[in-house]
Amino acid sequence: MISTVIRASISILAGGLLLVSAVYAEHQVPETISVTLQFKPDVINGQRVYAVCASCHLPDGWGNNDGVYPQLAGQHATVLMKQLLDIREGRRDNPSMFPFVQERTVGGYQNLADVVAYISTLPMSPNHGKGKWAKSSREYKQGERVFKDTCLACHGDQSQGNSDAGIPRLQGQHYAYLVQQARAIKNHQRKADPEMASVISNLDFDEIDQVMNYISRIRVPRSDLEPKEVAL
Ligand code: HEC
Ligand code: HEC
Repeated sequence: MISTVIRASISILAGGLLLVSAVYAEHQVPETISVTLQFKPDVINGQRVYAVCASCHLPDGWGNNDGVYPQLAGQHATVLMKQLLDIREGRRDNPSMFPFVQERTVGGYQNLADVVAYISTLPMSPNHGKGKWAKSSREYKQGERVFKDTCLACHGDQSQGNSDAGIPRLQGQHYAYLVQQARAIKNHQRKADPEMASVISNLDFDEIDQVMNYISRIRVPRSDLEPKEVAL
């Protein structure tokens, strides 16, 4: 039986095209075939596709503060797409979401490109889950030190990530979710970028809580947040 591995990276081109390059590596075939697919995202169709996602990630894409469902709003399109493909192909273990992102349920690449484009239009939660240590605490400062020494180089000084490099934005993500993902990476339950996995593995559980506390308290730019209701 031929088993196929698809590695995909995507980028949004200036004209709004969503580009997916997929690398198919088949066990029996020594060479790697590269395929580039281009999609023009349809946000209206994406909104329709999103209905199924909303049952877990909520209609506003904010997930929940207890960290079971991540906030999707504000995440880079490249990262959303990579995570969707990783979950769909089983490279990232997510049994609850898995059935909803199979081709027979969610559809092909076009629908994935569309739903990612729709999520990209959603403003972020003004009240995401934060860690418990205030700025004046020792734990906050230790988290800040770990962040600046070991995470900033990839995730950016405000943990804004990098769309072109496929590095997730961490800013605005729920504290409990960040901790849970780091623990999963440390325990080898979630595969991640090898360099990042080794950095996380070198932290103990207290250091993970502290660095995520710091990240969860980085201010999200106001223009990315859902405007607070103003009384008329
Ligand atoms: C049955 C619930 C469920 C449904 C339906 C669902 N998801 Fe998820 N999704 C999850 C859970 C749970 C996680 C976090 C998994 C983990 O802890 O690793 C997740 C993670 C993700 C992530 C990774 C986020 C990150 O930053 O790591 C993306 C992207 C995502 N979902 C998109 C979608 C989209 C798009 C849809 C609809 C097509 C969808 N999900 C439908 C439960 C669901
Ligand atoms: C070498 C670059 C690199 C370094 C250093 C790095 N990361 Fe990452 N990080 C990544 C990449 C790439 C991903 C996406 C991995 C994937 O596709 O699953 C990621 C993913 C994550 C995620 C999961 C986000 C999500 O939405 O699911 C968290 C949390 C995270 N990093 C935290 C950290 C912290 C905290 C540090 C410092 C202790 C750190 N990273 C250091 C590159 C890096």
